[in-house]
Amino acid sequence: MIEVQALTRRYGFFTAVDHLSFNVTAGEVLGFLGPNGAGKSTSMKMLTGFLAPSSGTAIINGHDIRSERIAVQRLIGYLPEGAPLYGEMTVTQMLKFAGQIRGMNGAECQRAVDQAIERLNLQKVRHQPTDTLSKGFKRRVGLALAILHNPKVLVMDEPTDGLDPNQKHEVRNLIQEMAADRTIIVSTHILEEVEAVCSRAIIIAGGKLVADDTPAGLIRRSRFHNAVSLSVAEDSGLDARQVASILSELPEAANVEVNGVEVTVFPDGDVDLLSAVNNKRDEHHWQVKSMRLEAGRMDEVFRQITLGSGQAAPTGASQQNNNKQEAA
Ligand SMILES: Nc1ncnc2c1ncn2[C@@H]1O[C@H](COP(=O)(O)OP(=O)(O)OP(=O)(O)O)[C@@H](O)[C@H]1O
Ligand SMILES: [Mg+2]
Repeated sequence: MIEVQALTRRYGFFTAVDHLSFNVTAGEVLGFLGPNGAGKSTSMKMLTGFLAPSSGTAIINGHDIRSERIAVQRLIGYLPEGAPLYGEMTVTQMLKFAGQIRGMNGAECQRAVDQAIERLNLQKVRHQPTDTLSKGFKRRVGLALAILHNPKVLVMDEPTDGLDPNQKHEVRNLIQEMAADRTIIVSTHILEEVEAVCSRAIIIAGGKLVADDTPAGLIRRSRFHNAVSLSVAEDSGLDARQVASILSELPEAANVEVNGVEVTVFPDGDVDLLSAVNNKRDEHHWQVKSMRLEAGRMDEVFRQITLGSGQAAPTGASQQNNNKQEAA
């Protein structure tokens, strides 16, 4: 459905998007991830015909974004970053205007507007000028505009940014519901969202593609994948460091870290670490407050992949590392 071919955008001497290539098949929900300034919005603007590429191109359902821009824009629904609106128009006027631009006739347009208003829960504000709406409602109008013509391809730039938790949930459901017969590209900084709604994710950093995988595949790259984390009750007479020291003797353990009251044991290859830790617990009669086998941590994978390509370290990363002390 979408073939991105060495898509590149330069601003003067600065290359914001650098030979980006990937494909998206029909029915996929592709998560578009990357640190601030990675080039996500710039790529989306090119894919939707709002910005001309400096070189390279993309083919959307057989149409080249460079030579057939209008054909591409007909079949795409686009929620731009910040969801710009005409402030003096009411929600209904804004949606009707968009419907008319898309060539819908009176009855068809009214039906599409009513349906979009219902899907995004905009009934209460439908007669309010968009300038007077709260940030989350503006975003919802932006989403209503994007889905108005029932597009085959949906490109959404941070659709849940600024929404309250209930609306975040609603929008995720909407994405999943729409995914059945559409192709969706969605950028986000919320990593749980990727796990919740995306069938695949690409990560870009410094304008370049640095990962292309399923959410499960990305999580498996985490050093926490198949690690065991546990905390022992205070009245066990042991502190976390003592527990860590005992667990570090396990042949199945590569290393052990202590983070506050929690001990994390990392596996040495493909071993049954959980059983080994359980045996130690029984042997020493530890009162365990919590214990879990870790699937992996998406935020850690994101940091590892994006910092590896020369991006500045987010402050949270170093703090977290400082809190962890090597026990073994
Ligand atoms: N019109 C412009 N002129 C010059 N530089 C620009 C322009 N638009 C974007 N850039 C630069 O291109 C780079 C990529 O910006 P872009 O908005 O695509 O990033 P992003 O991945 O969407 O980031 P964020 O997560 O913050 O939304 C940034 O360094 C940005 O400053
Ligand atoms: Mg952006």
